[in-house]
Amino acid sequence: MWRMNPFDTVKNIFEAFEAPSRIFKNREVLRSSYVPDYLPHRQREISLVASILAPALRGETPTNLLIYGKPGTGKTASANFIGRALTSRASDLTSRYIRAFLELNRKLGDSTTGIMEEASGVVGYDELLGEDLMKELRRGVHYIYINCQQVDTGYRLLAHLANHFARDWNERVPISGWSPDTLYGKLLERLDREGGVTVVVLDEVDRLVAKSGDDVLYTLTRINSDLKHSRLSLVGISNDLKFTDMLDGRVKSSLGGEELVFPPYNAHQLRDILNQRAEMGFYPGVLEEGVIPLCAAIAAQEFGDARRALELLKVAGEIAEREGEEKVTEDHVRRAQSRIEEDRVGEVIRTLPNQPKLVLFTILQMKRFGGDRRITSGEVYDNYRFYAERAGMRVLTSRRVSEFISELTLLGLIDSRVISFGRQGRTKVIDVKIPVKRSLTVISDGIFSDVAEIPPRYTYRRAF
Ligand SMILES: Nc1ncnc2c1ncn2[C@@H]1O[C@H](COP(=O)(O)OP(=O)(O)OP(=O)(O)O)[C@@H](O)[C@H]1O
Ligand SMILES: [Mg+2]
Repeated sequence: MWRMNPFDTVKNIFEAFEAPSRIFKNREVLRSSYVPDYLPHRQREISLVASILAPALRGETPTNLLIYGKPGTGKTASANFIGRALTSRASDLTSRYIRAFLELNRKLGDSTTGIMEEASGVVGYDELLGEDLMKELRRGVHYIYINCQQVDTGYRLLAHLANHFARDWNERVPISGWSPDTLYGKLLERLDREGGVTVVVLDEVDRLVAKSGDDVLYTLTRINSDLKHSRLSLVGISNDLKFTDMLDGRVKSSLGGEELVFPPYNAHQLRDILNQRAEMGFYPGVLEEGVIPLCAAIAAQEFGDARRALELLKVAGEIAEREGEEKVTEDHVRRAQSRIEEDRVGEVIRTLPNQPKLVLFTILQMKRFGGDRRITSGEVYDNYRFYAERAGMRVLTSRRVSEFISELTLLGLIDSRVISFGRQGRTKVIDVKIPVKRSLTVISDGIFSDVAEIPPRYTYRRAF
């Protein structure tokens, strides 16, 4: 009797997954964290930033810089690119350290007393190595990239910087608990011990300011007056053009010593960006001719976002692969577009707070059970109350619910407009802009599973 070994079944599944892709030559290069060696259409911006930071290589303090640009305009990628270029100088630095070490050895010879003296602080490195070598040693450039969405408080930021220069585990600053003065003192000590110029990139700096205010930026823009052997420069990156409105005037003028805007990419530029990745990521001939132009055109309409363009191309490739196709077609791109859109909507819905989520749930239920009949804000409120009571949630005022309706409209989940009935007054008419069933599935996954199958209580009293 023929019988499939269960182990073989699983093995077959794994093998199917491991089978070399016929579509992707290298999937990694299509990920958004990948930074290519050359960034098309960003050479001007990169050169500008490089020329602002270049004085660091001579031991001078670069002017602080603020970079703006819409999402996906290559700000983070350019910052990483510049960081790599700048720290490739680190090898020079290493050779300086080796020279210093050899010099130190020579001076100390076998004399343990020398080492003891050094350890006890009687003789400092400065004296042992001589002024020239010390100066040279201190000319290093440190480049520290920080994403302020993760490092979003003043304490964390200073601790992160201090820890960058920690020499071993014992030197690590705890993630909380030190007083601001102690922490700041420690940072000064470490920076001066290391010497040179430290360039600190604060990516998505608006997040930090929105969460924790701009005190830490004020501290950092003043730090050079407390440093003896080193210098610090700041590069802030934000996709919120109004970000500086949140800043204290002094911080604003210091941080924005130089300002640079990354413009959105047009369709032509996006094509070049996609072509470069496609060459690295896909096998030759796999992409049908119209695929890249279509991805570029769609992304150009969405504010010239290169991340969107790359994601479209990647997802289109994945759809083609999953279906066992040998080529990626424009149809795959269109399907990728709607899938990404669905994922985006799902994400927006999932992250809504409970009250607006309940309002959206109510509207979706009314659509689901009411079909094409119009939905008015008054009826939404009555049904909202009904569902809130059934789900054991607090019932908010109709004014709050009306505000949620406006917010859901801004998010693009629903459409709402005011219409007038003459004598009978005015009301808001609401339409749903997202797939009803699928969105309800996302919502009912969570807190509303108990009421998911209950139809709305109040239906249309007025036909119009
Ligand atoms: N000129 C370019 N050449 C090649 N790839 C690029 C270019 N610009 C952006 N990309 C790619 O597009 C994606 C998004 O870019 P990036 O993360 O730099 O955007 P951003 O401006 O930092 O956006 P956000 O404001 O959302 O953080 C990344 O995968 C990046 O590698
Ligand atoms: Mg970014």
